[in-house]
Amino acid sequence: MCGIIGYAGPREPVGVVSEALSRLEYRGYDSSGVAFFGREGSLTVVRASGKLSRLTEALQGTTGLPGTAIGHIRWATHGAPTEENAHPHRSGPIVLVHNGIIENEHALRQELIGEGVVFSSETDTEVLAHRIHRAFREEGNLPAAVRKGLAGVEGSYALAVLCEERPGQLVVLRKGAPLILGEAEGEYFAASDVPAFLKWTRRVMPLPPEVLATLSPEGLSLCRLGDGEPVPAVFEEVPWDPVQAEKGHYRHFMEKEIYEGPRAIIDTLEGRLAEENSRVILPELVRLGPNPTEIVFVACGTSYHAALLGRLMIESFSSISVRVEIASEFRYRPLRARKGAWVIGISQSGETADTLGALELARKEGYLTVGVTNVGGSSITRETEATLLTRAGPEIGVASTKAFVAQVTLVWLLALYFGRRESPEVRKSLAALVRSPTRLEAFLGSVDPNAVDRMARQVLEARFVIFIGRGIDYPLAIEGALKLKEITYRPADGYPGGELKHGPIALVESGVLVVAPLVDPLLRLKEISNIREIEARGGTVLTIGPAGDAIEPLPSFPLPASEGWDGVFLASAVLQLLAYRAASMAGNDVDQPRNLAKSVTVE
Ligand code: G6P
Repeated sequence: MCGIIGYAGPREPVGVVSEALSRLEYRGYDSSGVAFFGREGSLTVVRASGKLSRLTEALQGTTGLPGTAIGHIRWATHGAPTEENAHPHRSGPIVLVHNGIIENEHALRQELIGEGVVFSSETDTEVLAHRIHRAFREEGNLPAAVRKGLAGVEGSYALAVLCEERPGQLVVLRKGAPLILGEAEGEYFAASDVPAFLKWTRRVMPLPPEVLATLSPEGLSLCRLGDGEPVPAVFEEVPWDPVQAEKGHYRHFMEKEIYEGPRAIIDTLEGRLAEENSRVILPELVRLGPNPTEIVFVACGTSYHAALLGRLMIESFSSISVRVEIASEFRYRPLRARKGAWVIGISQSGETADTLGALELARKEGYLTVGVTNVGGSSITRETEATLLTRAGPEIGVASTKAFVAQVTLVWLLALYFGRRESPEVRKSLAALVRSPTRLEAFLGSVDPNAVDRMARQVLEARFVIFIGRGIDYPLAIEGALKLKEITYRPADGYPGGELKHGPIALVESGVLVVAPLVDPLLRLKEISNIREIEARGGTVLTIGPAGDAIEPLPSFPLPASEGWDGVFLASAVLQLLAYRAASMAGNDVDQPRNLAKSVTVE
């Protein structure tokens, strides 16, 4: 949800910032802009509405002086996605980019208007530029002006600020929105996410909240926003491979990331299996004390679907009762969990505002909180008592694929961790989990693209697509529907199979397509009954399930027989490929679907 980049170093900065923005494009793509020092030394701003390619065209042949530069890619909140509302915003010598929302923008704007300030955009960001400009006139020092300008500002922000009168300085800071610093030989980066600068460095430091960093080609200094006290800079190497943030020979990141599912499982299991893979160890949880009396999962979007699978898995193997809550709904209700409950937030980005808000509420109410995230150092890691990292590597496609696979791996691990180790079911399930990456890899290698394309064509021809499932197939069904909606823009919805006759079945007629994953061995026969009900009413049903058992005729898309819950990986790969192929055939921008953003850092 908006991406920002700042650079301080010896390279030609327009090229660096533009390339970094291309790696942040998944965060927003309504408009974009850059600011850099032009050849004659003045601070130049170039902005464009629409996709990043419009900015790239506008920048053709433009170069800036080595030193400092900033860039922004926008997902509009305040003000339409026009060029005037695009960042960077300027006030006198101050030019800045912002990710987040200024909540008391109206009052601040009125105050500035009262002082005679003329606004040139509808954005909340512009108030920051004017306030910092005013403070710079009083202080004559950029870091001090930023600190003063932000006093009294409410909301969330990650900011990168340049000043025409201080060409060698870039000031960045954050509160409630992500910002990561990167350090290489004689150069520094600041960005909303690591892939922006992964090409140049893997040495990163998540900037703590309300700490102001001043970057220049000569060095870096950090101080607290409130009292200016110095803060040490501690960089660490991220294990992410820069190649993971490149498309390679794939046409889209989404396609590449679907095929990275097996690697996501392997990496998420790494170090978490002991005694020749016969025991799950999660050292991160040990210091939390005894096992929880109850688990409350909070999450949004695809992560919520992984949590639904987590509930089924954990309840299968332990007596812990599990609740799953949509974070944005949960955070405004009384929590009312048992004493000793843990609230576990699942978030790929670790930055989703509603998930963070839900965890904050839980913590205030005295519950232990745990974050499950794909991004080390993200806000969720700081705001929970323990973090369990999924290790899918950077996910660039807006529609989540391999990160979901890694989340399912992690909740499966949790189920085994809380289960009785001696139980034969737990042992069998653990063995299945260990084998699952190999089986998923082999399956992905064997998928017939024509078979996926045939289904994709049916999806595109349908007026409405209903996904149904029971048991573990239900989260799969709603995740399949979400993937399809997100990138094909076709009407689709997911329902529990048994609920169909309480309403949705009224929609069934010719032209309506039903997609049914069938990997839950316990409920398969019941699911098949639901399918028969649809067929009897003229609906067409596509089934995705293991071949060779009770289903007659064969499933439309046969899968190998499941081992434990690994059918979840196989069926979700098919559902992801189905959405991917349908969206590609429809000519949509698969990696950057309209109106969506990868990480939703506003409520
Ligand atoms: C956005 C993304 C989804 C994601 C959801 C939750 O809507 O487009 O792909 O599932 O946010 O994000 P999180 O980072 O918290 O998992």
